[in-house]
Amino acid sequence: MSQPDLRCYAPATERNREPILTILKSVLPANGTVLEIASGTGQHAVFFAPRLTPRHWLPSDPNPSARNSITSWIAAEDIETLYPPLDINVTQQDWERQIIDWQSHHPKQAPAIAAIVNINMIHISPWAASEGLFTGAENLLSPNGVLYLYGPFKRNGQHTAPSNEAFDASLRSQNSQWGVRDLESVTELAHQHHFRLADVFPMPANNFSLVFQYEGSRS
Ligand SMILES: C[S@@+](CC[C@H](N)C(=O)[O-])C[C@H]1O[C@@H](n2cnc3c(N)ncnc32)[C@H](O)[C@@H]1O
Repeated sequence: MSQPDLRCYAPATERNREPILTILKSVLPANGTVLEIASGTGQHAVFFAPRLTPRHWLPSDPNPSARNSITSWIAAEDIETLYPPLDINVTQQDWERQIIDWQSHHPKQAPAIAAIVNINMIHISPWAASEGLFTGAENLLSPNGVLYLYGPFKRNGQHTAPSNEAFDASLRSQNSQWGVRDLESVTELAHQHHFRLADVFPMPANNFSLVFQYEGSRS
């Protein structure tokens, strides 16, 4: 029996995927598995995975509808280096254990996690999600591993565009714990977890790509 088509569509992914891909090609380690946190519809996963080979791509999302969509996108595209989505919520303590367990079940096929990609999540989740993301990333990545963030950011407490200020107000009206984050606060959080800010790329529509590199000092 064929599976139902549960693919969801987020129009923004089609606008931002090419600029993001260009950055990912230049900053990701050449090999290994890329863990995507907060994959959403799965459109990014099916677009990036075949264009970033020989890297493997592991999508995830805590939302069951998102995982259904990712699964349907994967079924429609059939990409050898793309794994089925995991249920990862970075506010859960020790979420990275799920990845380590998953890897232990794929000892031959799945290369080690070389990078983590997180697109448009940290402003649409409580600050605890950013903290959990860096905590788990520190435990998962090896030295020189990359944590890539994409989204809108304030710089030194100031919005970089009126549209981002309006977006921030709209986010906060939906949930007081959401909101456009300050690039410097995220960088300070990164330092606490032994990541250095390796690059900042301005992106279309007043977004940024932030590239953090793990310096390998966990005890
Ligand atoms: C705006 S969507 C972005 C999805 C996708 N990355 C994109 O750019 O289209 C935000 C996503 O973050 C996920 N998310 C929210 N809180 C999360 C958490 N604590 N851990 C992991 N993912 C989370 C949601 O389920 C949702 O899929």
